[in-house]
Amino acid sequence: MSINRREFLKSAAWMGTAAAVAGCHLNRLGFGEGGMMQNYAFGKLKGRRIRVGFIGIGGRGTAAVHRVAMIPGVDIVALCDKDPARVEKNLKWLQDRKYPAVDKIRKYVGPEAYKDLCDFGDCDVVYCATPWALHQPVALRGLLGGKVSLVEVTAALTTEECWELVEASEKYRLPCMQLENCVYGEIELLELHLARLGKFGEIVHAEGAYIHDLREVIPSSGKFNGEAVWRYGENMVHKGNRYPTHGLVPLCQTMGINRGDRFDYLVSLENGPKNVNYEVFKREFLSDADPRKKDPPAEMGDMNTTLIKTVNGKSIMLQHDVSSPRPYSRINLISGTRGIVRDYPFQCAFEEKCFDRKAHRWFTEAEASAVRAKYMHPMWRDVSEMAKKVGGHGGMDFIMDLRWAYCLQNGLPLDMDVYDLAATSCLCELTETSVRNGSKPVQIPDFTRGNWRNVKPWGVVNIDLDKMGLTADKVSRDEGALNV
Ligand SMILES: NC(=O)c1ccc[n+]([C@@H]2O[C@H](COP(=O)([O-])OP(=O)(O)OC[C@H]3O[C@@H](n4cnc5c(N)ncnc54)[C@H](O)[C@@H]3O)[C@@H](O)[C@H]2O)c1
Repeated sequence: MSINRREFLKSAAWMGTAAAVAGCHLNRLGFGEGGMMQNYAFGKLKGRRIRVGFIGIGGRGTAAVHRVAMIPGVDIVALCDKDPARVEKNLKWLQDRKYPAVDKIRKYVGPEAYKDLCDFGDCDVVYCATPWALHQPVALRGLLGGKVSLVEVTAALTTEECWELVEASEKYRLPCMQLENCVYGEIELLELHLARLGKFGEIVHAEGAYIHDLREVIPSSGKFNGEAVWRYGENMVHKGNRYPTHGLVPLCQTMGINRGDRFDYLVSLENGPKNVNYEVFKREFLSDADPRKKDPPAEMGDMNTTLIKTVNGKSIMLQHDVSSPRPYSRINLISGTRGIVRDYPFQCAFEEKCFDRKAHRWFTEAEASAVRAKYMHPMWRDVSEMAKKVGGHGGMDFIMDLRWAYCLQNGLPLDMDVYDLAATSCLCELTETSVRNGSKPVQIPDFTRGNWRNVKPWGVVNIDLDKMGLTADKVSRDEGALNV
């Protein structure tokens, strides 16, 4: 702890105004009551059926209800939304499928009803898929109510909110996990597997992104009419990377961020000042009667680029662009002293020994496919066929849900803890701070308060489907599956 404070004072000296500009809480004094939650094996649900309550069952939450309904040993016991129609729709879906004990499922309706669900004693886990601004209040309330809190991305929007979750998770000894499904994507898992086999040598640099043309989703127009209007409001008033986790969390898991290394500081740059593509879209596609046509330009730039330095000297580039006509990409680039992998499309190059020049060109398609097949992550190999049948971002959504359920059922630590949530979610605020201050460096808090030095990187894990009693014939297509 004292080391952290010294580190802070030293870095604050050279960062000068930047740290002050950030206004962020760089370090807290001492661990919260209860102690560290890294590698914390939560044993209370081991060997028991797990009772889950859903909060926010719009697009994403409904898909999650469908997926979780297929997981053996997990019972959906409560549904909550501020909109009664969404609760009824999900309940009907479960009734139509003759979901066990469906008549006992509790309904919580209204904007504050999530608090009652969080206090409901016969529920172990809250699963939150509300709009962003409610993620942290719901997750925190879940912890206060004695629940494991699973929360959609981005889990918290400010550094202060992140600290509150860290301290509550520690105090109540309850896991709090950000539901970052991209950690379970094929290429992300492949990269992690390659890294653990040492194929990259030492990782020195990584790149990730959320580049997704959401011009229809954000203003809730076209086929998304009326859906997710909250996204529009968020992007109207904020700069910075408001959705950093899809590109970043998988890189963190592979690079051992919070486990042997940690973020040090970032600089963030955004084009603008106007979101040009958004304006073009409003001009072309919104009717003159649409009041949003007269809105001022969105604060958010079209492209945000953030550079992060880690304390071990590695670099990460992270991009966010949801308003340009570009093909989807999370980039997924990992570069080491012995090789490189990147995605969209998948490419790789490796040396067998130093300077054998085999990585002087990208591998041919056949060579790259051979790497992809040979080093496929065991969890992807064992579960992806079933997960693809269910659907939802190519299957990774189902693998994510199976994995947290498996961990809780077997008393294993969850793959992502509250520090992973905090280190990545806090970038919402910190990237905005940097952008609004001429891209000045902003220090990133060490939410582990030094414990990152004592923890090993995430290993190559799997799910024992036999133990779970799950076979491919027991799953069906997730009718709510989303790909946005
Ligand atoms: N991980 C992914 O791949 C992925 C994909 C899509 C969406 N998401 C995330 O999921 C979340 C939800 O997105 P969405 O597209 O489903 O949005 P949505 O607007 O379709 O759903 C949000 C739901 O929350 C409900 N809600 C709002 N306020 C509430 C309150 N006070 N109490 C209870 N319920 C409330 C709304 O009525 C709605 O049903 C967002 O955070 C989004 O970023 C993640």
